[in-house]
Amino acid sequence: MKSPINVVILAAGLGTRMKSKRAKVLHRAGGLTLVEHVVNAATGLTPPDHVTVVVGSQAEQVKASLAHAGVQFVEQKEQKGTGHALLKCRDALASQGGLVVVTYGDGPLLSRATLQQLVDRQASSDGAATLITTSLADPTGYGRIIQGKDGEVRAIVEQKAATPQQLAIPLINSGIYCFRADLLWKYISEIRTNNPAREYYLTDIVEILSRAGHKVAALEISDSQELLGINTRAELAVVDKIFRERKVRELMLEGVTIEKPETVTIDCAVRIGADSIVGPFAQILGRTEIGEDCRIGACSIIENSKLADRVQVAPFTSIADSQVEAEAKIGPYARLRDGNRVGARARSGNFVELKNTQFGAGAKASHLAYLGDAEIGDESNVGAGTITCNYDGVQKHRTRVGKDAFVGSNSTLVAPLQIGDGSYIGAGSVITDPVPEKALALGRARQVVQEGWAAKRKKKK
Ligand code: UD1
Ligand code: MG
Repeated sequence: MKSPINVVILAAGLGTRMKSKRAKVLHRAGGLTLVEHVVNAATGLTPPDHVTVVVGSQAEQVKASLAHAGVQFVEQKEQKGTGHALLKCRDALASQGGLVVVTYGDGPLLSRATLQQLVDRQASSDGAATLITTSLADPTGYGRIIQGKDGEVRAIVEQKAATPQQLAIPLINSGIYCFRADLLWKYISEIRTNNPAREYYLTDIVEILSRAGHKVAALEISDSQELLGINTRAELAVVDKIFRERKVRELMLEGVTIEKPETVTIDCAVRIGADSIVGPFAQILGRTEIGEDCRIGACSIIENSKLADRVQVAPFTSIADSQVEAEAKIGPYARLRDGNRVGARARSGNFVELKNTQFGAGAKASHLAYLGDAEIGDESNVGAGTITCNYDGVQKHRTRVGKDAFVGSNSTLVAPLQIGDGSYIGAGSVITDPVPEKALALGRARQVVQEGWAAKRKKKK
């Protein structure tokens, strides 16, 4: 049997330097939590049941954010340092042998390919460990790599404990290591807390292994960007920008036109088909999927929604948790709140709000309407100013409008309500009772005209 590769992701710290109530690894870059990015890289290398995430601060939320990934969790109740966090995995992993890759939950740019390169290097060496390093113009905050004349790593010195000469070393510890499992688990308990922070530093394992006569090699990679760790919100913003730039470049290479790409925000998990056009300042978020030949107008925000091919979204439109079928036209200034399905060729125009509404194929609500908890049949027309009164102060009720119906402008549809196929509602009606198919319903006061009324009024004065 091939010896296993286990990946351990340390993600138990609160991240004091973030100055946040939320655990650091739950902050987002490129639309995913930091730890989700690291888990994605890890599960590209080894099956999810060989990935262990060490959780502690806000453990339940961290586990929930990774619930879909199928990874293992180990709890570190008190955060006594990175060495202590890894030690917590010994019972679960020591008997498996093979290789153990260790990485931190706050380094989200790491790629699967780099992890693979690390594992390949370690697998072909006779040393105890290989770690990834890079040379930084400003290495402030990172551990520094101390090498012997032979190029092997002798120790890692943390910023707080480094001498001025050591602080001048540009080679940093990325926090990504690959260990021979037997040696790691044998020596990890020798880590002590003799440092300014009184923590168990995982980085001390390097000196311990080296002194015991085992080789630790450094794999230097040139793309130092990939190794950026996040400790502050300023660093989070830098990494978020890198994810955004990467995503728009990737989409453009796949055939998506992005106007003023430096202004748009597109989350990592978003998919967009070829020949679609994304306007300036658009935000496409979450797990949104957009088909081919669509147009997403400037300043629109689309979240966790699915748009089929040739959908047109005019500027300043907001769409969340909704599905839009082919060739529909939405906006400008439209709002699709959660739970809508807009049919093929349908139109939901300016200042139209839909919530939990099934809007039929070819149906139209071109201006100024609120349709909540409604079903609008195929090819029906909803006039400007139409409102579904879906809430009676206690409960929500549904409005069902059949196919080919015509709802006149400024109608008030008091739910629960059923309006039959092919029927007409006169403009300005308040409709409270069911309307059978092909009928005309009027619910308004008849107009009164008094000829000569104005002249009579003037005489009275
Ligand atoms: C660490 C390294 C440093 C390296 C840098 C790379 C140590 C001692 N230092 O410093 O050499 O250059 O990362 O980014 O390892 N964590 C736990 N439990 C704990 C403490 C931390 O799980 O008790 C987790 C954190 O959630 C975090 C990761 O370990 O995801 C790293 O911790 P952090 O405090 O950010 O270490 P750095 O100071 O960045
Ligand atoms: Mg860090």
